[in-house]
Amino acid sequence: MSNSTSPSPVLSVRNLRREFENGAVAVQDLSFEVCAGEVVGLLGANGAGKTTAMSIILGLMTATSGSVRVFGMDPIRDRVAILRRCNFASAYTDLPSNLYVWQNLTVFGRIYGVKDIAARIDELLSLFEITHLKNRVTGHLSAGEGTRLQLCKALLNQPSLLMLDEPTASLDPDIADKVRKILRRVQQESGLAILYTSHNMRDIEEVCDRVLFMHKGRVAAEGSPREIVERFKQASMEDVFIRIVRDGDIESAA
Ligand SMILES: Nc1ncnc2c1ncn2[C@@H]1O[C@H](COP(=O)(O)OP(=O)(O)OP(=O)(O)O)[C@@H](O)[C@H]1O
Ligand SMILES: [Mg+2]
Repeated sequence: MSNSTSPSPVLSVRNLRREFENGAVAVQDLSFEVCAGEVVGLLGANGAGKTTAMSIILGLMTATSGSVRVFGMDPIRDRVAILRRCNFASAYTDLPSNLYVWQNLTVFGRIYGVKDIAARIDELLSLFEITHLKNRVTGHLSAGEGTRLQLCKALLNQPSLLMLDEPTASLDPDIADKVRKILRRVQQESGLAILYTSHNMRDIEEVCDRVLFMHKGRVAAEGSPREIVERFKQASMEDVFIRIVRDGDIESAA
């Protein structure tokens, strides 16, 4: 959505740096904001630091330096208050495998203090067309089924900020198309802000209002998908991505 109606930042990242114990620097000097109701794509090559940045925003990892504010609060100090209004899904994380699908959603619903949990679970399972999986053991789900369960979990608490780390990675093209449309619809209805990573440029073009290209641990290019394609004089976001990653130098690639 345009940020012209709601310009307040729900997420603010300033000069973020994360260096690991082995000396590897995953995030060099990352700064960006996400405003209420905006869908922002975080793009970058494998290893560019996207998941690391999300982990810091979620309070799962500390930063070496720099600051993160979510709803104006600190991810470590104010973790509980932030997580009430925030959620996360990824194709690469699993919910407890030994629980039934409905049990997993009920546990998370209780953690988030969701009212009328059973009705909310039914609504979300129906939204993602996995009602038939409600009584299945979570560990027995296929990758794409598990991904859709993750998305149900992520929307349980009607978050104001949603972090999606490659949410469509395991989805077949038909389901991926449906999920993109569902996310867009939910986002437009609720004014939810989303930080979205994907290596699928169709996702990015369809879902994101604004794109941040991470390169060498910082934001190297920013704009709407259409602006970026025009600025880089390429035919598509896929071509822009390849150009940025292969050329290395953003200034000369643009
Ligand atoms: N615990 C760790 N110790 C050392 N290096 C790490 C650790 N976690 C991540 N890294 C490194 O930090 C860099 C960034 O990793 P990250 O997972 O954030 O990348 P990404 O942008 O999410 O990549 P992908 O597109 O492959 O998911 C990588 O080079 C990775 O190997
Ligand atoms: Mg990642």
